[in-house]
Amino acid sequence: MSLTAVQETDSKVDKSDARVRRMFGEIAGRYDFLNHLLSAGVDKYWRWRTVRKVPPQGERPVLDLCTGTGDLAIAFSRASRGRTPIVACDFCHEMLVLGEAKGRQHRERLGSNTAEGQITFIEADTQRLPLSADHFQIVSVAFGLRNVSDTDRGLAEMVRVCAAGGKVAVLEFSMPHWQPFRAVYGWYFRNVLPRIGQLLSGNRSQAYRYLPESVGEFPSGEALAERMRQAGLIEIEIYPMTLGVATLYLGTKRA
Ligand SMILES: C[S@@+](CC[C@H](N)C(=O)[O-])C[C@H]1O[C@@H](n2cnc3c(N)ncnc32)[C@H](O)[C@@H]1O
Repeated sequence: MSLTAVQETDSKVDKSDARVRRMFGEIAGRYDFLNHLLSAGVDKYWRWRTVRKVPPQGERPVLDLCTGTGDLAIAFSRASRGRTPIVACDFCHEMLVLGEAKGRQHRERLGSNTAEGQITFIEADTQRLPLSADHFQIVSVAFGLRNVSDTDRGLAEMVRVCAAGGKVAVLEFSMPHWQPFRAVYGWYFRNVLPRIGQLLSGNRSQAYRYLPESVGEFPSGEALAERMRQAGLIEIEIYPMTLGVATLYLGTKRA
């Protein structure tokens, strides 16, 4: 599929930076609780599996974008036993405040009073990162790229800041292929999840209605793999998880 063809499918859902930032700001306090509830805790497994597929090695830092409350950043730090420095970035202040608190708890659990377990949280837009090129061994994003208003610009920034030979990891929701699970899950995802999410989060920006809408129109499978190739990545690997409810995409920056 050509890049032009893919771009033409973008985007009927309002993904303006201001709307997305406001929406996550409104649900930040309930974000973790609802994440675990609505996925029956499986979201933890998806992040764990991501870290297993791209384990951090040595002291070159890892960057987690759209980090939210920092769960994937913490999973990377834990996997390296605190040895790899982690930078966690998001443009929503309320999410970052919670992430920083969790980062401090993580360091306490490690018993660290040195640089060990250090997670540096920075407030920045994934489309305009205030970070040097060719720097990070892994650049990751979990359930975030779908929300970035310009997907290709987000991917281009991920590739720019990744070190030569480093890995770019995108974890994102997808729709299962296998019927009848696809039908049952589709019904839950479109009808049950938004109602429970809206009820329990009580936000005005319809965040949990936005979720199935944004997943429905975001490229998945080979279409997203092609976007990653267009951004300059090679050796794209695709790992569907939990019957395709989420998918991990890995790419390598040319050495
Ligand atoms: C669904 S949450 C995912 C959080 C976390 N990665 C996780 O696994 O739970 C999406 C996050 O992406 C952030 N986000 C969306 N667009 C962004 C952008 N352009 N720049 C930085 N952060 C962005 C939101 O603020 C939100 O915290």
